[in-house]
Amino acid sequence: MASEEKVELKRGLRDVYIDRTKSSFIDGKVGKLLYRGINIDDLAQKSTFEETIYLLLYTELPTESQLKAFQAELIANRALPEDILSIIEIVKDSHPMDVLRTGVSALSAFDPETEDISTEATIRKGVRLTAQAPTIVAAHARIRKGKDPIAPSTSLNQAANFLYMLFGEEPDPRDARLIDKDFILHAEHGINASSFGARVTASTQADLHCAVTTGIGVLKGPAHGGAAEEVMKMALDIGDEDKAEDYVRNLLKDGGRVMGFGHRVYRATDPRAFHLKDDAKELGERKGQPKWFSILESVTKVMEPYTRRGICQNVDFFSGAIYYLLGIPDDLFISIFAMGRIPGWTVQVVEQFENNILLRPRLQYVGEMDVPYVPIEDR
Ligand code: CMC
Repeated sequence: MASEEKVELKRGLRDVYIDRTKSSFIDGKVGKLLYRGINIDDLAQKSTFEETIYLLLYTELPTESQLKAFQAELIANRALPEDILSIIEIVKDSHPMDVLRTGVSALSAFDPETEDISTEATIRKGVRLTAQAPTIVAAHARIRKGKDPIAPSTSLNQAANFLYMLFGEEPDPRDARLIDKDFILHAEHGINASSFGARVTASTQADLHCAVTTGIGVLKGPAHGGAAEEVMKMALDIGDEDKAEDYVRNLLKDGGRVMGFGHRVYRATDPRAFHLKDDAKELGERKGQPKWFSILESVTKVMEPYTRRGICQNVDFFSGAIYYLLGIPDDLFISIFAMGRIPGWTVQVVEQFENNILLRPRLQYVGEMDVPYVPIEDR
């Protein structure tokens, strides 16, 4: 007989507050997001990823000289040990997120402070991993095609350097700015699933490499970081804006979900989506391919009844189209999210360490009780 224990289940930890944070604030009803108190709209329009990382890790915006020194620190940490490139070669047929997860995990063997979980060392490691992650992703993208990896630039910013290492030429500054903005918008987002995973890992006092490895693993799923790729697959499947209505209605009729819509916290449009919407439209026009944006607009129209129920566009609805139009292979889309999120995972891990408590919820047992053990010869 099952246990009679009466418990209040909080499945999915929906609306459960597990701790306090000073890193980011989300108002899901109105669609507002702040990093360290600063509105994401201001950061997306006026800031850079480098400045945003600094804000998250060191709690305030940098002065000019602080920013210069910080950019130099990121640049100095971009190169990968040769052994990491060899590991990438060995696992090159895996999904890029698996390669990134493996690369980050393996970097623990080369970091001078892997086991040091002090705030200072954790932040330094967060900076190093933020600098190294694009090099892993870009190196893998080339190695799997039989091409040599391109050494990181010693002058370009994070976003431009990623495109440079991926394509082998300095990007159009407008393209680099789109990735820069995308990184800013993905940098931090409270206790989302991957940050929760990172915090659970940190709560056992495991180090940042373990926590970021966890975060990357959790982010990979289509309900979290994988949605951008799925949205673009949907747009490609639809193929023409006139076919969007039938496609979406059939998908919903069969109980499917429209990727890039819905969010556990937002009941209004995700404030990050507004910025990417304008970008996706402009980029489509600039590249002579306005059709993808038109298809996404048609999908949005069909989703209007859902929007009224609080299932609105999220950050991933337009990001996939931007990556696609920039010529980035679709299986790299989640890795771009991950590259942007490393500062956020680092901040969450620092906060966890600074006021640590083991994260250890419970499960209600509903299986059989007191089943007799039958020796193997009698089964
Ligand atoms: N399309 C159609 N229906 C939806 C969708 C959607 N995208 N999202 C939620 N619903 C419906 C769902 O079917 C359910 O309906 P009912 O109550 O009739 O069964 C209701 O809304 C509540 O859904 P839920 O799964 O309980 O909500 P959740 O808070 O657990 O889900 C979510 C959040 C993001 C997993 C979900 O909205 C989803 O699967 N969206 C598509 C994937 C996606 O775009 N993910 C990216 C999230 S933003 C980037 C990030 O931060 O990770």
